[in-house]
Amino acid sequence: MNTYSKEQIINSIETLVRDACMRKTNAFGQGIWTHHIVFVVKYSKMLAQMLGADQEIVEIASLLHDYAGIKDFACSEEHHIHGAQEAETILKAFNYPDDKIEKVKQCVLSHRGSVVIQKNSPEEICVASADAMAHIDQIASLLYAAFNERGKSIEDGKTWVREKLKRSWNKLCPEAQDIVKHKYECALEILK
Ligand SMILES: [Fe+2]
Ligand SMILES: [Fe+2]
Repeated sequence: MNTYSKEQIINSIETLVRDACMRKTNAFGQGIWTHHIVFVVKYSKMLAQMLGADQEIVEIASLLHDYAGIKDFACSEEHHIHGAQEAETILKAFNYPDDKIEKVKQCVLSHRGSVVIQKNSPEEICVASADAMAHIDQIASLLYAAFNERGKSIEDGKTWVREKLKRSWNKLCPEAQDIVKHKYECALEILK
């Protein structure tokens, strides 16, 4: 049985997800890599350090959290469920330990703000908060989604982004709120 180092596994998953993001079939555009996933990884690792969560689990889960919808848009509605299954398949191929696979799956499953699933572990809190922090940190990508992808009018787009930001804010753990508070307040001020 092959064994893989933590670096090999993370690098391979990073390549897998980045390649999926760059494909023309990715309905969200390449920005989901450059302006979302990269920031989810960054913030989840930052929070992991603060909350004493497992860095490896949160990094892998952050890379994979939106993967199912990126790979196949038909899965986007339930991407947390499909994503957890994808994570299991991918990690099993690396002979990743079952208990760690379970932790990654739980992070992917519970990351969505719109779906109320109890977050039990510090790793789950890190990934869900980092996902929301990335939205607050990268407001331009929300504006892009509102005006370009959804074709909204100026006022409707402002409202849509503002509501999305508020939902993201409410999803954050207190440590995450401290980090992005200034950006959040500035964004709401601009979008008034
Ligand atoms: Fe998601
Ligand atoms: Fe996400």
